[in-house]
Amino acid sequence: MKSTIDNTIEFVKEKLEGAEAGHDWFHIERVWKLSRKIAETEDCDHDVVELSALLHDIADPKFHNGDETIAPKISREFLEQQNVPDETIEKVLFVINNISFKNRDQAPSNPPIELKIVQDADRIDAIGAIGIARTFNFGGFKNNLMYDPETPPNPGMTKEQYKKSNGTTINHFYEKLLLLKDLMNTEKGKKLAEERHDYMLNFLDQFYREWNVD
Ligand code: ADP
Ligand code: NI
Repeated sequence: MKSTIDNTIEFVKEKLEGAEAGHDWFHIERVWKLSRKIAETEDCDHDVVELSALLHDIADPKFHNGDETIAPKISREFLEQQNVPDETIEKVLFVINNISFKNRDQAPSNPPIELKIVQDADRIDAIGAIGIARTFNFGGFKNNLMYDPETPPNPGMTKEQYKKSNGTTINHFYEKLLLLKDLMNTEKGKKLAEERHDYMLNFLDQFYREWNVD
């Protein structure tokens, strides 16, 4: 598998050239490394974990008019070209089709361990200092407000309230980032998430103190 992994790295780097900095090759590299770290603590198929981590954002629907069919199609074609066994291809596609936070209501009831691992890794990269940086980068990319004191966020905000709040970057913490710690699947994931979660709480505290100049 070594050469298949190397070829996948090259393929993904090329595909993600020019991507928004929160969803670029460096995000993939971090998720790949985090996935390997978590996989060491679990009984799993390491090839499936590594290939899924590398391919999980190859064509994020956010940047492709919401089209969720592109990523699985590109991934299947690539893996077939690499002569990866069919059984592995199916497992990898299952992971990349089910990893998203957005579609968590449709999550499979009995997810395979490989999905749990890569999902934890992707979510860990969404929190902590890197998570904060990625989120502000995405908000800037979309030209969103950082924060709107007229519609301050609150943890129980519904999707509708969130929309009204102009989708500020600070609101994304309440809509997603602060929820991730309790959604971790693996013990290792839970451990890694805790410190990052606390760091975000401190960040928000300080942000509000600095915002409210008196
Ligand atoms: P997934 O791709 O897992 O469904 P998201 O679509 O929420 O999850 O996006 C992943 C990352 O992109 C987030 O962790 C965050 O850094 C950034 N992001 C997505 N939506 C927003 C938003 N509205 N404001 C700021 N950052 C966002
Ligand atoms: Ni990702």
